Amino acid sequence: MSSVTVRVPAKVNVQLSVGPLREDGYHDLVNVFHAVSIFDEVVAKESEGMTVSVVGEWADQVPVDDGNLAIQAARALAKHAGRTYGAELVIHKAIPVAGGMAGGSADAAGALVACNELWGLGLPLEDLMEIAADLGSDVPFSLLGGTAVGTGRGEQLSRLATGGLFHWVFAVAEGGLSTAKVYAECDRLRAETGADVPWPELDEALLAALRAGDAPALGARLANDLQLAALTLRPDLADTLDEGRRHGALGALVSGSGPSCAFLAGDADHARDLATTLSQFAGCRAAVPAHGPVPGAAVL
Ligand code: C5P
Repeated sequence: MSSVTVRVPAKVNVQLSVGPLREDGYHDLVNVFHAVSIFDEVVAKESEGMTVSVVGEWADQVPVDDGNLAIQAARALAKHAGRTYGAELVIHKAIPVAGGMAGGSADAAGALVACNELWGLGLPLEDLMEIAADLGSDVPFSLLGGTAVGTGRGEQLSRLATGGLFHWVFAVAEGGLSTAKVYAECDRLRAETGADVPWPELDEALLAALRAGDAPALGARLANDLQLAALTLRPDLADTLDEGRRHGALGALVSGSGPSCAFLAGDADHARDLATTLSQFAGCRAAVPAHGPVPGAAVL
């Protein structure tokens, strides 16, 4: 095989409950991931060396040196296999960069699946998930896709059943937010209030809404413990959330660590209309309709 193309979805967190800060600098989470139909493509081609390039709207914001998560993933996979392999990776970027939608994690997951195939390794998903967890807390979910709850750092995943499709709009903001900075701001705000941070628990009402495919019920339960921190760092996002709510979104929240904002719509038509409205709003760089759940990283 001389070239393999893998498609990988973005995600939104429909519940992100953040526990106390751990000694290793991470937080224990209850993180309900939901994969949505905004996709990056990762192409891996035969090559002597290991290189990465990026094309698409966001290309100029993605590092192409060792800081690139896809190249780190390819190297980690080669190391796991105990061989020196090469690959020319090309990332076709549609997921916003540093947007809270797991774009970097998606590219890492895509590189793992693509190189596993290109190099004929035949590793099972469980092995790829282990390598993925070392690359970043969200990378295992980008492999799995669908809807799943992550505990620990978010890397210990169990699949969740959903009834039918949910329709979303993602409002993409100018600029990005560093995930580490948003967690640090969350800790700072919590220290200011001095209140005890409860152990995160899965929201049973949210699970029931997902199982039933009940969009109004899901919209009412959307929750993100990082939202206050993201809004403190980017106060303009509050106006974007309000604009979506004013136009009938069933629920609105910051996606992960932001600054992308997610809006749950009643159906595909409502999502299209809401995307048109939000794309004209001054605070949005773009607004994109999408649906979920969709599968994780898959060879095309
Ligand atoms: O795992 P990943 O490298 O994607 O995490 C980026 C940063 O987000 C970490 O360095 C940490 O500051 C924060 N984080 C956290 N708790 C988690 C996941 C991420 O504090 N469960």
